[in-house]
Amino acid sequence: MTRSKKTSWRDDFTTAMMGSAPAPLAMLERGAGCYVWDVDGTKYLDFLAGIAVNSLGHAHPVLVEAVSRQVGTLAHVSNYFASAPQIELAQRLRRITGAGDGGRVFLGNSGAEAIEAAIKLARRTGRPRILSLINSFHGRTMGSLSLTGKAALREDFEPLLPNVEHIDSTIEALARALGPDVAALVVEPIKGEAGVVNLPEGYLEAARELTRENGTLLILDEIQTGAGRTGTWFAFQQSGIVPDAIAIAKGIAGGIPIGALVTFGAASDLFTTGQHGSTFGGNPLAAAAANAVLGEIEHAGLLDNARVRGIELTAAIEAIDSPLVAEVRGRGLLIGVGLSEPVAQKVASAAMAAGLIVNAANDTSIRLAPPLIVGDVEITEFIEKFTTALKTASMETTQ
Ligand SMILES: Cc1ncc(COP(=O)(O)O)c(C=O)c1O
Repeated sequence: MTRSKKTSWRDDFTTAMMGSAPAPLAMLERGAGCYVWDVDGTKYLDFLAGIAVNSLGHAHPVLVEAVSRQVGTLAHVSNYFASAPQIELAQRLRRITGAGDGGRVFLGNSGAEAIEAAIKLARRTGRPRILSLINSFHGRTMGSLSLTGKAALREDFEPLLPNVEHIDSTIEALARALGPDVAALVVEPIKGEAGVVNLPEGYLEAARELTRENGTLLILDEIQTGAGRTGTWFAFQQSGIVPDAIAIAKGIAGGIPIGALVTFGAASDLFTTGQHGSTFGGNPLAAAAANAVLGEIEHAGLLDNARVRGIELTAAIEAIDSPLVAEVRGRGLLIGVGLSEPVAQKVASAAMAAGLIVNAANDTSIRLAPPLIVGDVEITEFIEKFTTALKTASMETTQ
């Protein structure tokens, strides 16, 4: 990097990067396992993992080897050609989602692109309306933003897609909104960006029944909840339902950009040749990374680790003696700590100062999404540092 001696990296960042980027918390230089180091050599325990992306932590040898080998063999081909990693990944995704032989896979580059593919899939039903939930997050491209249920994010970019309705996260609201003109309901099994907020008990099961009755597609946004984060490959698998499609991204390739839409059953026939595509979609490098990460999650028993560590972590957070901890939400290693005061920013800053990365998802929610490889040592260190951060924020609040 070229840096003038007179300016800090913060100044250089601000002057060079688009104004849409928020001020960075630190400049990171390297990572290993559940830890990262900044340019000043400060070490942080990373309990955010690139927002549920670094499933195997940082610089995992399996990912490093797979990406290095693939880039030295065949990094990219256009959509005019197939590659072995691409086909292997599509087959693997059909298996781990349960879509099986009737399933089909579209490969793209990000979560928003997976949602864009889902919107186009919904359009193929010929029905105009799409439903999503208030406070949901589905991405920031114009289509995915249209579905995102946070008015503050949408307002500056209207007009967005027509016929998208944001409804309450209740079965009653869904029953009221559904009808023969609704193409799809798009939902996150746990609302991650909203601060890791669970859906009401039985919501997915009821949504499956209601959407089936109305001939509406049930499309799940598993971008944050997928790739083993909640203790099963995908969160919906804990409810026993079968969706029509799921959007996935983030953690499936451990940090290499990727996104995918997997269709189930009849929804697999909606797209016809030439109706969707992307230059980098199914890129052998990203596909090799995903195959390596998903293979390691399977072989190293990381689904079980996510489930068991999630239970341990939740119990340990609930046992912290702090008036700020009001509730612990989420499942597996996607955890939201609900605070009794709007001091999440203070808690996250105090955590950074103590050498711990967590995320203030909103004023009253701390989001945790550690790597799926997290173990006893890191959990003990997390509790110690998080307790310190809560104390610091409490003291600042009462001053
Ligand atoms: C549930 C959900 N959907 C969609 C997205 C958008 O993904 P991306 O940022 O890769 O476009 C995100 C990103 O945070 C997400 O959490």
